[in-house]
Amino acid sequence: MSDNPALIPQHIAVVMDGNGRWAKKRLLPRVAGHKAGVDSTRSLVESCANYGVKALTIFAFSSENWNRPEKEVKGIMSLFVTTLASEVEKLHKKNVCVVFIGDRSRFSESLQYAIETAEQLTCNNTGLILNIAANYGGRWDVVQACKKVIEKNRSGELSIEEVTEDVLSNEICLNGLPEPDLFIRTGGERRISNFLIWQLAYTELYFTDVLWPDFDKKTLSHALDWYQTRQRRFGKTSEQVVNNANTAG
Ligand code: FPP
Repeated sequence: MSDNPALIPQHIAVVMDGNGRWAKKRLLPRVAGHKAGVDSTRSLVESCANYGVKALTIFAFSSENWNRPEKEVKGIMSLFVTTLASEVEKLHKKNVCVVFIGDRSRFSESLQYAIETAEQLTCNNTGLILNIAANYGGRWDVVQACKKVIEKNRSGELSIEEVTEDVLSNEICLNGLPEPDLFIRTGGERRISNFLIWQLAYTELYFTDVLWPDFDKKTLSHALDWYQTRQRRFGKTSEQVVNNANTAG
C-alpha cells in the first residue's frame, strides 16, 4: 500500500456489520459483540488519523435499528453513553472533531447531553473529523434536506428554478466535506442499507466478510490496497483520466 497522501482516501465511510454474529459464534449475548465492536472502532479511528484521512463516517445506529429486540436497543444505547463518557477526552487529546448526524431527538436526554458535550468539546479540533451516524437513514437525510429547500422557497429566498443538485447538497448531512472516496462494509453483506445514499454516488465500494469485531489494521490496509487499484472516472473515459489514476476528478 502506498502512503502517498494523494492515494489515501480523504473520506472513508464504514458500515460496521457482524457484531451479532461474532457474539453468537462465542455463545455471548449480541451486545457483547457491540462492545467488542467498540474496540475495532477505536482502532479504526486511530489508523485513519495516522494515515491523514480527513473524515471518517461510521454507521453506529440506523433509523431501522429501533426494530431490534428491546434488550439489544437498550444495550446499544447504554453502550453509546458509556463509550462517549470513556472515549471523548481521548479523542479530544488526539485532535479529533466529533460530529453526530441523524435525528437525535429520539434519544434519551442523557444521550443527547453526551452527544452535545462531545461535539462542543471537540468542535475546534483540526485533526480527523469523526462523523457518527446515529438514528440516521439516507432517505431521512434526503427528506430533511428537501424540507429545508422547501422552507427557503416558501420564504422567497429561492425559486423552484434555482433548485439544483448543489442546492440540495448544501442541505444534506456532511455538506462541506468531500464525498466519501471509499465505503467499507464488513460482515459479508453487499448492500448500502440506507446509509449515505446521496453522498455515495461516486464512492468506491469495498465489501469484506470479516465481522466488525475482527476488523483490524490489516483489514483496513487490505481495503486501502484495493482502493488504490481503482481508477476513478466520475463519468469520464478511461483515456481521459489515465494520467490522473485514482485521484482524477
Ligand atoms: C451491526 O452489527 C452493528 C450495529 C447495529 C451497531 C454498531 C455499533 C458499534 C460498533 C458501537 C460503536 C460505538 C460508538 C459510540 C460509535 P449487527 O448487530 O447487525 O451484526 P449481525 O449482522 O451479525 O447481526
